[in-house]
Amino acid sequence: MDTYFLDWANLLLRWVHVITAIAWIGSSFYFVFLDNNLIKPNSPDLLEKGVDGAMWAVHGGGFYNPQKYMVAPKKIHTKLHWFYWESYSTWLTGFGLFTVLYLWNAGTFLIDKSLMDWSPAAAITAALSFLVAFWFIYDAVCRVFGFRENGERTVAGLMIVVVAFAAWLSCQLFAGRAAFLLVGAMIATSMSANVFFWIIPGQRKVVAAMTSGVAMDPKELATHGKRGKQRSVHNTYFTLPVIFAMLSNHYSFLYTYENNWVILVMMMLAGALIRQFFVQRHGYHLGRAKNPLPFAMAGVVILLSVIVWMRPAPTSSVAGKAAVEAPVSFAEVNAVFVQRCQACHGEQVQMKNVRFDTPEGVKLHALNIYQQAVVTKQMPMNNATGITEDERALIKRWYEAGAALR
Ligand code: HEC
Repeated sequence: MDTYFLDWANLLLRWVHVITAIAWIGSSFYFVFLDNNLIKPNSPDLLEKGVDGAMWAVHGGGFYNPQKYMVAPKKIHTKLHWFYWESYSTWLTGFGLFTVLYLWNAGTFLIDKSLMDWSPAAAITAALSFLVAFWFIYDAVCRVFGFRENGERTVAGLMIVVVAFAAWLSCQLFAGRAAFLLVGAMIATSMSANVFFWIIPGQRKVVAAMTSGVAMDPKELATHGKRGKQRSVHNTYFTLPVIFAMLSNHYSFLYTYENNWVILVMMMLAGALIRQFFVQRHGYHLGRAKNPLPFAMAGVVILLSVIVWMRPAPTSSVAGKAAVEAPVSFAEVNAVFVQRCQACHGEQVQMKNVRFDTPEGVKLHALNIYQQAVVTKQMPMNNATGITEDERALIKRWYEAGAALR
């Protein structure tokens, strides 16, 4: 029963999380696009007003003419729109989802005893420390190197190393699925922290100075602008890697791979490079940036090499052998279910409302059992019950021969 409500909480949180993430990333992509397409106006009245760049666009039956003021306009005539709830609500729903899924059932989802046999409390504490530690490291790196000459390159290089290390560590400590998600959550937490601790407070100070009429020290004013821009640029490079990490935990062939952390790091790197292609492409059209194509190509080459590298060895001889073997009886296959599955899908517990401790239950879930235990090998969850490859092969033969119930 409680797993029933937990499933609903999971589903609804996920729904809202995806919606708010679309709103956040959508507006963030839009502003990056806008910034890179602004053209300095030549009309004297606009320059006099302090307009630094403007753009024309057509969308949804109307024409738009956004203008950017550097650093701030002299006066704001209408309501000022802020962009922060998209980010905060994405983080809040994401953290809620992480809690419902991985922390609530830490014993099942977070812990893989074959990697690390520890208590749920210890595993939860370690997982949460990833979120906090990464923020402190990233923030310190930005403060120390961010504003030096070529500092952003140093920041990028160091962050690739830190993320790679975190991915490795996460995959040593946690079940693969949780490990991948945690790396995404860790970076995403810093994205929201950028908004919460730097971007919005900086903007608030500038707006307060504007509305109070007390002039702000121009150096301080410029620092807020520069830091806000720096962190928001970092956020744009984090988006594709984070989204990859968030989705990858649905693909067991990735996180059950031997060197799973390398796959994750390579795919995230491909994402960041592809994002760089899009960012640079906006400026390229205006002759402000170099040809972005090499970034896209580097991203695609990495992606393709992951595909080739992970390609499974051909298994034709095993399949051929299975075909000539005798049919598998229900009693044989059911013995596997009793031993390997029913702790979580039997009378006591029904994970995901899936129960098959009767022939009817097995019949109802046969296809799903086959998919989970044979095709994707996601079940038993983190192989908690130690199913063997022979037992998986048994389920495979039983299902492919018609999933007989006797
Ligand atoms: C340690 C507990 C545990 C064991 C053992 C276990 N499962 Fe699961 N099973 C789960 C959990 C947790 C879920 C929900 C997974 C999710 O939400 O992604 C689940 C979900 C499922 C689902 C539904 C998947 C879906 O998304 O529709 C099937 C089918 C399934 N398990 C089959 C099996 C089979 C077959 C075995 C034995 C070979 C098995 N399970 C052993 C915990 C377990």
